[in-house]
Amino acid sequence: MNVGIDLIHFSTSDYYLGLDAFAEEKNIDVDKFYIGIGQEKMSIAPPDEDVVSLAAKAAAPILEQIDKNSITAILFATESGVDQSKSAGVFLHGLLNLSSRCRVIEFKHACYSGAAALQMATTMVRANPKEKVLVIAADIAKYDVDTSGEATQGCGAVAMLVTESPRIIAIEPGSGYHTEDVMDFWRPNQRKTALVDGKYSTKVYLHSLKQAWQHFTEETGRTFDDIQHFCYHIPFTKMADKAHQTLAKVAKVKLSPQEFKAQTLPSQVYNRIVGNSYSASLFVGFCSLLDNLNENMANRRVSFFSYGSGCVAEFFTGLMQPGYEKVLMSTSHRKQIEQRHPLTYAEYLAFYHEVDDEVENIEFERHNKGPYRLAGIKDHKRYYQTL
Ligand code: CAA
Repeated sequence: MNVGIDLIHFSTSDYYLGLDAFAEEKNIDVDKFYIGIGQEKMSIAPPDEDVVSLAAKAAAPILEQIDKNSITAILFATESGVDQSKSAGVFLHGLLNLSSRCRVIEFKHACYSGAAALQMATTMVRANPKEKVLVIAADIAKYDVDTSGEATQGCGAVAMLVTESPRIIAIEPGSGYHTEDVMDFWRPNQRKTALVDGKYSTKVYLHSLKQAWQHFTEETGRTFDDIQHFCYHIPFTKMADKAHQTLAKVAKVKLSPQEFKAQTLPSQVYNRIVGNSYSASLFVGFCSLLDNLNENMANRRVSFFSYGSGCVAEFFTGLMQPGYEKVLMSTSHRKQIEQRHPLTYAEYLAFYHEVDDEVENIEFERHNKGPYRLAGIKDHKRYYQTL
């Protein structure tokens, strides 16, 4: 039985901060960002945008194409949870008016949780082909101002419908994984921003890739040459380049500069101008590959490397389905990215400081131009609006 992603759609916020404006403010050579880390822009969420509104914006175009009452579960992956107890997925369930015959749960392990939710969803569908699971990976990447991480913020959500006989990609059984208790990136409960040991995190990422790849080859017997397209977790695009160089080296494969570009660039187009979206960024990269590769990928194998600091990593693959191009929502992806408004550094800081979840009552000013927004907090309860 083939099980995998039947439909996929991604969303991001309506604003961005250009790393040119950022570089000017900080008096840093912009090439450190454009070339050094491979990033140009960061999507910035206004105070009335959170992972629930981003997720609703990502999921709604999928639900419009199916009987939404057929969704049997929502697996919501995030490390930007909006409540310590109630899952973000239940807020989403209410906002999208889904059937009560549906289970909802939140998944967390840093940027790994999106891959974990996808793998769990495929397992659920293999056990019972009647299941239709809505997987959400959504995050707002936020670091302290004036830290090394500040240039690698961003936000986004990816919604994936996981079913049997999927129209886009069948996820293959067999994967390689690696877990190690390390402190490279973390966010204690009282903090809104992550703490990171930046350089160390890049080393652990690459070490985890080697370990997960080794396990993957032992489990599946597949080699580098069995894979035509490579998607990586993308905190910044240079990290994915380093990952691909490392993988080629470990697999003892020599790539020409043209081959290297062809295997990496299409999956980085969106991430370069959206920024990090933690659990979603691997799948934003997959959307970027689907929308920006000018070749038909039918029957080709795509690999996915997920890395969640702390750390858990997994390497797995899928097979592209014939006709997949007919169900892509590329126009919507491009439109969302293109219609974003640029922020000055001062405007970005105003958004940055306005969010304060600890208030008991607040009504947010309307900045979010999307169909769903966080309208406010009343008696500590979040309430959302559909426009
Ligand atoms: N022109 C061209 N290149 C330049 C340059 C210039 N003017 N100035 C600097 N560079 C290059 C540097 O040589 C360096 O390249 P290499 O990495 O190839 O050596 C690169 O730009 C970055 O420069 P620095 O190392 O000086 O930058 P930094 O001290 O600001 O740190 C960072 C970079 C560690 C990635 C930092 O942005 C950070 O902490 N980011 C958050 C953590 C992160 O994303 N970690 C990734 C792995 S963990 C993960 O993947 C999970 C997750 O999502 C967080």
